[in-house]
Amino acid sequence: TKAPVITLDGPGGVGKGTISGLLAKRFNWHYLDSGALYRLAALAAMNHGVDFSNESALSVIAEHLDIQFKQQEDAVVILLEGDDVTRQIRSEEVGSNASRVAAFSRVRDALLKRQRAFRTEPGLIADGRDMGTVVFPDAPLKVFMTASAEERAHRRLKQLQDGGVVATYEKVLQDIEERDDRDRNRSVAPLVPAEDAVVVDTTDKNIDAVLDEVLSLVADRG
Ligand code: C5P
Repeated sequence: TKAPVITLDGPGGVGKGTISGLLAKRFNWHYLDSGALYRLAALAAMNHGVDFSNESALSVIAEHLDIQFKQQEDAVVILLEGDDVTRQIRSEEVGSNASRVAAFSRVRDALLKRQRAFRTEPGLIADGRDMGTVVFPDAPLKVFMTASAEERAHRRLKQLQDGGVVATYEKVLQDIEERDDRDRNRSVAPLVPAEDAVVVDTTDKNIDAVLDEVLSLVADRG
């Protein structure tokens, strides 16, 4: 029998990472940050000078990604080919390239097995765009988080500034809207709620309120 999994999908800046991390900690479950895999594939492609329109070269990069997620005290350190890229993969440049890489079906296929391998006992919180629709379609609880683009831009801006990155609201909003557009309109695994997903609108809600809402869904399904 398969380990339990809860999927959290939604657009960028909606707070999935924060909520997923809190859930994983509370249940002591594993955590899959699938966006990080696409970001790592994008960064590897950048490092190796691969053209972002070359699907077959990009799929080779994705297939052979040399990555490690290392738990260090309370944080996860991400290594790409042995280098600590934990901060680097969070840049808007890498995020935007990740969404280009992610539009190719061969890249997505190359990352599929790696994502499913995270599903081990005692359970998994899976964070992404297609966790409920493609990667874990049998998940007993699927959450789809939404918020207005403006609210997500404010959250993302704060996150960047807290990390010491200089950014403007206008630029962050523009990046978010461009990325949303690409993620929603691509032909493979577009960003849409699974038919059986519960949509949680997080606009005007703080982290505690969203966490409570998700925990009550978990209790209902439990
Ligand atoms: O969530 P994050 O912003 O880190 O994801 C970066 C990009 O990776 C997204 O804009 C999206 O294009 C892609 N992605 C995806 N499927 C996932 C997770 C991320 O296509 N499951």
